[in-house]
Amino acid sequence: MPIVTSTEMFKKAYEGGYAVGAFNVNNMEIIQGITEAAAEARSPIVLQVSAGARKYAKHVYLMKLIEAAEADTGLPICVHLDHGADFEVCKSCIDGGFTSVMIDGSHFDFEENIRLTKQVVDYAHDHGVVVEGELGRLAGIEDDVNVSAADSSYTDPNQVEEFVRATGVDSLAIAIGTSHGAYKFKPGTNPQLRFDILEEISKRLPGFPIVLHGASSVTQSYVQTINANGGKLVDALGVPEDQLRKAAQMAVCKINIDSDLRLAMTAGVREFVYNNPADFDPRAYLKPGRQNVKDLVKHKIINVLGSNDKI
Ligand code: G3H
Ligand code: 13P
Ligand code: ZN
Repeated sequence: MPIVTSTEMFKKAYEGGYAVGAFNVNNMEIIQGITEAAAEARSPIVLQVSAGARKYAKHVYLMKLIEAAEADTGLPICVHLDHGADFEVCKSCIDGGFTSVMIDGSHFDFEENIRLTKQVVDYAHDHGVVVEGELGRLAGIEDDVNVSAADSSYTDPNQVEEFVRATGVDSLAIAIGTSHGAYKFKPGTNPQLRFDILEEISKRLPGFPIVLHGASSVTQSYVQTINANGGKLVDALGVPEDQLRKAAQMAVCKINIDSDLRLAMTAGVREFVYNNPADFDPRAYLKPGRQNVKDLVKHKIINVLGSNDKI
């Protein structure tokens, strides 16, 4: 199975009432953990790369590692740019072999978001690459941008048809209450996604794939493991998994998860290092991190996304 676009994946996910997991990758162990889990669960997968990941690992290393994972597992893998900030970074990823890019114009006004997104769509489609756009603004931290709750805004269903028609995007990220990072909600509050907005948007865009960012659940067992081994994570709270499952059964075809992977990896590494202070072999401490990533992704695929046994 080659590196593929998400077109076929999303079509089947929409019709089948499940979502494909889009997991952020930064190094070999994370890529191996995710793809081994997906292969065992027989699930399609999106591996997404942020600007920060490209800066850390270099584009060519990540691309080659993903190609190696595809050769090793035979999985259909979509390679996606997460939160492309401008035309140039999208072009660079398209030219460098990615099959999907996100152009994140959500912080611009409607007209400028359309102009920029269309510019990327025109170039991407000419090269057989698909594009995710975004309308509405999530709170939280992305790369260097920290969006406060006051500056965030839900997606306006009245804008989605015009945006999709004018830009030609292949999928649309929307804001319905999720946010980036590990501190999405205040403990003691009752996290509630705006399913009414999702419902309204899917009525306006029948059959069109919707994307949910900021969808980590902030798995508490990993938070506790980090804290029990010298960590100091307090009051981290994410999106309830039953709400993600519900979204996956609706029009949401792609669910973005990064923070949960970070917690899983860090919990494995931290626990090992704390208990084995004299062991300085990177393979020894990265292995439990990779195993945690694999366990987490398998859990998400089977119990949250519902994408198991789909290939
Ligand atoms: O939405 C942002 C992702 O979690 C990527 O985070 O930019 O720190 O790699 P990053
Ligand atoms: P989380 O921070 O909830 O994992 O969201 C990741 C994300 O949306 C990447 O684009
Ligand atoms: Zn995101």
